[in-house]
Amino acid sequence: MNLRRVRADFPVLSAADGHPGPVYLDSACMSLVPRPVLRAMEEYYTEYPGCAGRSLHRFAERVSAGYEGARERFAKFLGRKDPAGVVFLRNATEAINLVGQGLPWRRGDRVVISDREHNSNLVVWQRLAVERGVRIEVVPLPDHDPFDEEELEDHLRGRVRLVSLFHTSNLDGSTLPVRAITERAHDHGALVMIDGCQAAPHRAVDLDRLGIDFYAVSGHKMLGPTGTGVLAADPSALGQIRPLLLGGETVESTTLGTHVLRPPPYRFEAGLQNYAGVLGARAALDYLSAIGLEAVEAQQRSLNSIVTRALESEPRVHVLGPPAPEDRPSIFAFALDGIDPHDAALFLDEGHGVLVRSGLHCVHSFYAARGLPGNVRASFYLYNDRADAEALVAGIEELLERVPDRPSSGTSGAMTGGRPRSARARRRVAGSRGAAFRSAPPPRRAGSGRGGSAAGSD
Ligand SMILES: Cc1ncc(COP(=O)(O)O)c(C=O)c1O
Repeated sequence: MNLRRVRADFPVLSAADGHPGPVYLDSACMSLVPRPVLRAMEEYYTEYPGCAGRSLHRFAERVSAGYEGARERFAKFLGRKDPAGVVFLRNATEAINLVGQGLPWRRGDRVVISDREHNSNLVVWQRLAVERGVRIEVVPLPDHDPFDEEELEDHLRGRVRLVSLFHTSNLDGSTLPVRAITERAHDHGALVMIDGCQAAPHRAVDLDRLGIDFYAVSGHKMLGPTGTGVLAADPSALGQIRPLLLGGETVESTTLGTHVLRPPPYRFEAGLQNYAGVLGARAALDYLSAIGLEAVEAQQRSLNSIVTRALESEPRVHVLGPPAPEDRPSIFAFALDGIDPHDAALFLDEGHGVLVRSGLHCVHSFYAARGLPGNVRASFYLYNDRADAEALVAGIEELLERVPDRPSSGTSGAMTGGRPRSARARRRVAGSRGAAFRSAPPPRRAGSGRGGSAAGSD
């Protein structure tokens, strides 16, 4: 992979107005968008802004072909032979809701999840438990040891209808053995849904081979535009799902009293769709495929190793998840003794131009169960380079130096006293936000800071 060329494809990474470009380490939340994706969307709006599958004019013909081509592209990318299993949606959350709310549940049916699921793969089951008598079985995941298949087996006894687990964790970047999980679940007659949000952008997935029934991904974590998601289902499993929304495009025919639904996937795509987004997401897959996911993962492994090795002898840095960076290539999540995660994130941005995420990462249940205030999460993607990894390390080291590890010390002193040392950091503080940063405590989000709940809504 030619990293310089890749970086040049992402306009937001360019330096501007004398400021260096950002060190963007929040791709697990959403990835950046390269020029070919922007171009695909602009082309749609400037050359053929029509609706697919309705009108017969030339715009409509072109967008229909592009939209269905995108379906085929997603099917190929994710290892589905039949594109009819690919449903375009707003995001992965909608994909999980479609399955959760669309399966024909009976009171007493069980759904198996882990204790580290994103809220998007938790709340939907909680509602089903309250309203439809579905029982939630929670498999506790070990902190460092490999996934315990026997533990899963214990939870598969009884009437398990669905196993719904993440593929790669958005908390720490570790990956579950989804093939073995799927085999065991199928042996017990359960369907399998995998939340692939943090896996599909980074590693090749072959869904037909893995036997996974439902797989949810978001386009905006794999170089696509926001508001694009896909449910990549096995067509026979998809046939068991009731649509969430009904209306235009979902029906073959209607009378005033009845309707006949179209076959999947069309019955699930109600109303006018996000054509520009889907066409952009298609271009994103082309971009990723041209680079190759193996190269993407290798790059992340190497950056994560740089950061892990540089900080491993620092006793105040606690890395979440498996100790070896190879086992969590896309994510370096950490806590710093004596420093609130939100304060750390603000410091890294203000002082070093390093953009990370802090808080509970939509896995409130994990932190609540452990009484922890959250973490800082740096996540890598194909446009990150060695300098990015080094900037993160420099930022963390400087923060640790500024904030002594005293249980009673506040962290805002670190934000306000003195100036950041690095040249890059000095350039950053020259602006107006930098002036505020030097003269006053950094803006605090609700709940941030020691003693606050630090929960926020994240
Ligand atoms: C593991 C995981 N699942 C689900 C989601 C929700 O994805 P979306 O925003 O596409 O609904 C995310 C987003 O961060 C995630 O990381």
